[in-house]
Amino acid sequence: MVMTTPSLALILQFLIHLTTTSAQTYTLSQNLSGSNFLSGFKYNESLIDYNNFGNVHFLSQSDAVSNNLTYVDTNGHVIIKVDNTTDANGDTTFGRNSVYLESNNAMTIGSLLVLDAVHIPYGCSVWPSLFTQGQDWPTNGEIDLVENVNLATTNQYSLHAGSSSCVQSSSATSNQTGTTTSTNCTVVPSEDENTGCVVEDNQSNSFGAGFAENNGGVYAVLWDDSGIAMWFFNRSSIPSDLSSAEPDPSSWSTASAWYPASGCSPTSAFGAQTITLYIDICGAFAGDTTVFDETCSSVASNCTSLVQTASNYDNAYWEINYLRVFTTGSSSTNSSSSGSSNNAYAASVFSSSLFLVVAMISLMSFTIL
Ligand SMILES: *[C@@H]1O[C@H](CO)[C@@H](O)[C@H](O)[C@H]1NC(C)=O
Ligand SMILES: *[C@@H]1O[C@H](CO)[C@@H](O)[C@H](O)[C@H]1NC(C)=O
Ligand SMILES: *[C@@H]1O[C@H](CO)[C@@H](O)[C@H](O)[C@H]1NC(C)=O
Ligand SMILES: *[C@@H]1O[C@H](CO)[C@@H](O)[C@H](O)[C@H]1NC(C)=O
Ligand SMILES: *[C@@H]1O[C@H](CO)[C@@H](O)[C@H](O)[C@H]1NC(C)=O
Ligand SMILES: *[C@@H]1O[C@H](CO)[C@@H](O)[C@H](O)[C@H]1NC(C)=O
Ligand SMILES: *[C@@H]1O[C@H](CO)[C@@H](O)[C@H](O)[C@H]1NC(C)=O
Ligand SMILES: *[C@@H]1O[C@H](CO)[C@@H](O)[C@H](O)[C@H]1NC(C)=O
Ligand SMILES: *[C@@H]1O[C@H](CO)[C@@H](O)[C@H](O)[C@H]1NC(C)=O
Ligand SMILES: *[C@@H]1O[C@H](CO)[C@@H](O)[C@H](O)[C@H]1NC(C)=O
Repeated sequence: MVMTTPSLALILQFLIHLTTTSAQTYTLSQNLSGSNFLSGFKYNESLIDYNNFGNVHFLSQSDAVSNNLTYVDTNGHVIIKVDNTTDANGDTTFGRNSVYLESNNAMTIGSLLVLDAVHIPYGCSVWPSLFTQGQDWPTNGEIDLVENVNLATTNQYSLHAGSSSCVQSSSATSNQTGTTTSTNCTVVPSEDENTGCVVEDNQSNSFGAGFAENNGGVYAVLWDDSGIAMWFFNRSSIPSDLSSAEPDPSSWSTASAWYPASGCSPTSAFGAQTITLYIDICGAFAGDTTVFDETCSSVASNCTSLVQTASNYDNAYWEINYLRVFTTGSSSTNSSSSGSSNNAYAASVFSSSLFLVVAMISLMSFTIL
């Protein structure tokens, strides 16, 4: 009998270890980098920016490639940029060439999206965004991971939902390092209520020139049943499990932005999400008079006066190491499956662990006998 108590405790401890580790396996389902990056996206060609009223033309794939707006550089980094060679002196209606990319595969709940970049577009009038959106906007929701405008130095996270009850609950702020500036995620496009619930990162090199000078970093968003969490890691603080593509978000530092399920349902307010990456110019956000003046009033009297001059766009480019999507479980994958070997690995770890437990229980019975 003396042996029984410690053995039971040991087995219990082992079982706890087993459930915590096996519950957190993330399987790589999209691994986009270098020459395979752009084939993961469609180019949403459009002469006019219907959604945000920017001064841009979004090019087709063939035009974007022949104009050198999307390519892989000699370091193997993916470049996605605005035209910075065309001057349009005197043309006040000029729309500068850019691109609007939408992923071929949608992301479902249980996914972790990770972007490693060394440069994010910036400059007065420039408006980059990496976000995800549902099929039907805003009913199926939108998650903004990287976004800000002009000469802002910090990133802005947000959710946008069509659901009438979607807020960032006040309890969330104890679990995030960023600063909440707006808590209501519900948007009503017909009433021009589109702000969403916004969190400002507090790290000064999370955007703009500071981000580029520090060799960039990693952005991540985890969308699961508990809510939506978003992180920024500067280059020197990227968790090693991300670099090795075996992420364990539970081991990371506190998120920059956290939207717990208690305030907004991650299941009913969000449908399958298309990953969207683009660069706008002026328009509803960068071109807003108040927003523009915050960081660019000393550069120009208004946003649109900058659009005609090519050299204003020398920093209007994304330079990307990789974009990856990890999923928990196999049901949420909608792609060809570079991760199946990971699944097999997880399964074998699980069954060998089970074997150990069975062996320990047998050993215990033997001890009792
Ligand atoms: C992702 O793809 C790149 C380029 O094809 C490859 O070098 C890398 O090993 C892949 N990473 C993983 C974790 O599969
Ligand atoms: C693609 O572009 C068109 C035209 O700008 C726009 O109406 C549409 O919403 C875009 N598609 C998505 C999924 O954003
Ligand atoms: C694109 O880049 C290539 C190689 O650097 C260059 O030869 C070509 O002129 C560029 N095209 C445009 C439209 O800038
Ligand atoms: C899954 O991906 C394919 C393209 O690979 C696409 O046609 C299909 O619409 C996607 N399905 C969902 C539910 O996202
Ligand atoms: C804060 O995070 C902890 C640890 O992940 C979690 O247990 C707790 O529920 C979170 N609280 C809120 C309000 O989200
Ligand atoms: C950001 O907020 C966290 C948590 O409040 C704090 O520990 C950290 O020092 C802040 N960082 C900066 C740069 O203000
Ligand atoms: C959030 O904003 C929407 C649109 O203005 C409004 O209908 C809703 O009542 C607001 N929700 C809260 C909790 O204030
Ligand atoms: C990078 O992030 C870490 C952790 O937040 C911080 O201690 C460090 O000062 C940051 N480095 C730079 C260059 O901002
Ligand atoms: C923007 O500024 C330019 C140059 O100062 C000026 O000519 C133009 O009238 C301004 N446009 C608007 C809409 O204020
Ligand atoms: C345009 O931007 C690129 C960076 O994307 C830079 O290398 C180049 O010098 C800029 N200017 C011209 C005229 O191409």
